[in-house]
Amino acid sequence: MLRIKIARATWRTLSRLAPFARVALLSCIALLPQALCAGATGAATAPPRHAAVAAPDEFGARTAMEVMKHGGNAVDAAVATAFVLAVTYPEAGNLGGGGFMMIYEHGKGSFLDYRETAPAAAKRNMYLDDRGEVIKDASVIGPRAAGVPGTVAGLWAAHQRYGRRPWRGLLQPAIALARDGFAASSPLARRIEDARGSYAGLTNFDRYYGQVRAGERFRQPELAATLERIAAHGADGFYHGRTSQRLVAQMRPAGLITLRDLAGYKVKWREPLTADWRGMTLLTAPLPSSGGFALIELLRMHDALGAQFAGLGHNSAQYVHLIAEMEKRVFADRAEYLGDPDFVHVPIEKLIDPDYIARRAAEVRPHEISPVGSVKPGLAEGMHTTHFSILDADGNAVANTYTLNDWFGDGVVVEGAGFLLNNEMDDFSAKPGVPNMYGVVGGTANAIEPGKRMLSSMSPTIALKSGHVVLVAGTPGGSTIFTSVFQTMLNIYDFHMSAQQAVAAGRFHHQLLPPDRIVYSICCALSSESIAGLRALGYNPQPSAWEFGDVQAIVVDDDGTLSAGSDPRGRGQAIVETMTPR
Ligand code: DON
Repeated sequence: MLRIKIARATWRTLSRLAPFARVALLSCIALLPQALCAGATGAATAPPRHAAVAAPDEFGARTAMEVMKHGGNAVDAAVATAFVLAVTYPEAGNLGGGGFMMIYEHGKGSFLDYRETAPAAAKRNMYLDDRGEVIKDASVIGPRAAGVPGTVAGLWAAHQRYGRRPWRGLLQPAIALARDGFAASSPLARRIEDARGSYAGLTNFDRYYGQVRAGERFRQPELAATLERIAAHGADGFYHGRTSQRLVAQMRPAGLITLRDLAGYKVKWREPLTADWRGMTLLTAPLPSSGGFALIELLRMHDALGAQFAGLGHNSAQYVHLIAEMEKRVFADRAEYLGDPDFVHVPIEKLIDPDYIARRAAEVRPHEISPVGSVKPGLAEGMHTTHFSILDADGNAVANTYTLNDWFGDGVVVEGAGFLLNNEMDDFSAKPGVPNMYGVVGGTANAIEPGKRMLSSMSPTIALKSGHVVLVAGTPGGSTIFTSVFQTMLNIYDFHMSAQQAVAAGRFHHQLLPPDRIVYSICCALSSESIAGLRALGYNPQPSAWEFGDVQAIVVDDDGTLSAGSDPRGRGQAIVETMTPR
């Protein structure tokens, strides 16, 4: 018998909302039955089944659950949630960005790549000055930092292939929240306040978001109208007609995206990167994400070093050291080999080959730090993204990570359409060896080329046992994404933490450069013993400058127990509910 754990009780959700937010959410949910219920069937005698969601805010989480309660599957729930987050989580939820969706539906995994692409007019050296130096913030702020957005095409493609409920209905919660407004949370108001300074005088960010105050209703009428066009015309409502014209007009004076770029944008269906790990089949992100490769390399290196890890305490100095040694090697490989597989040949099979990984693991120095210069690629990457995980009552799952890159992207709002544009161009390597905003470097494999997808770290991941979903997980965090997913998995499978404990636990991160620096979660520092032990080894452990990661995970235990956890670093919510047979 399935037991249910509710990470944050569903019934508390509405009571925690300010009254007007409650009205807005209820009104949008009220739209769902009309939009979603028609034609729903189901045997009244079916046993109770359960569905789960972990999402970065309560609007997203509630929307997913309501869609599933009204006959939608995990993909329907994902589509509706992604549109809602574009309204209520504007720092990362988006129409003007891109992402990846891992789908497990009727026993088959598929990976939807709706990553942004470089505009046709992009040039390899477009962010370098006359002396060949990287121009500060050129790939980060303003219209020139934006790649061709993929989100709307992605959600449309996912729905076309897997959706069960009508498209138009799935957009109604987002439209209602944009039109009628919602109560801005304090974390959202704080993030906006922080961002205003960086965009001041450079973009129109302040005009659209400057009036947001915690607890006050925030309405976005232009965004509501854009969503209406998408609801009415599908992806064409974004890539053609008024929305596309407004977007291109917003490119002046420096941006590169043209109507032709928009009309030509295509999603890619890719095979998930798969790996066996401890009796599970992992379905994780293939290129152009580095995340899946890195997650597999880390998990397999960890197990190859099993004897070294035996008995080590969670986040003890030695545990952190071994993982930092592994992470060095992963980041060296990432910088050298990885880029868009449609443009560069990447020896991915070799990089996840168990023998190769065993050899990399053997290079780990158990009691001392490998100097940065000695860690070479083994064969001959602020801050902002968001993730949600959904498991429906039929066992179908979606792990979706999408992003504007930095919080609020390039700070440019498309006037007349009300949405922010990404600054994903910064994920390319502007110049070999020069770190991007996440401090990661890259080489020619990730150089800018027209139409190319920039290398990502996003790692939406689903794990299966005997064909059944046992884990749905992912997080934002730039270059810390796959190291956070990796640590969450070890927390679950080695330290036997619950889903909520696993996402909440303190994390750390090392990425080869800067040398010997280990950053750890601000909320939950490493213990003083671990810090002293790491200093004795020669590391420079320090609290991260930003609270990395907002892990959203759903876990199914061996006994069938379903649980979900939403990282307390964010403002998310995890819900597990019984689905009433329809
Ligand atoms: O694709 C990537 O790897 C980055 N653009 C992700 C950015 C991100 O996670 C920001 N979140 N905190």
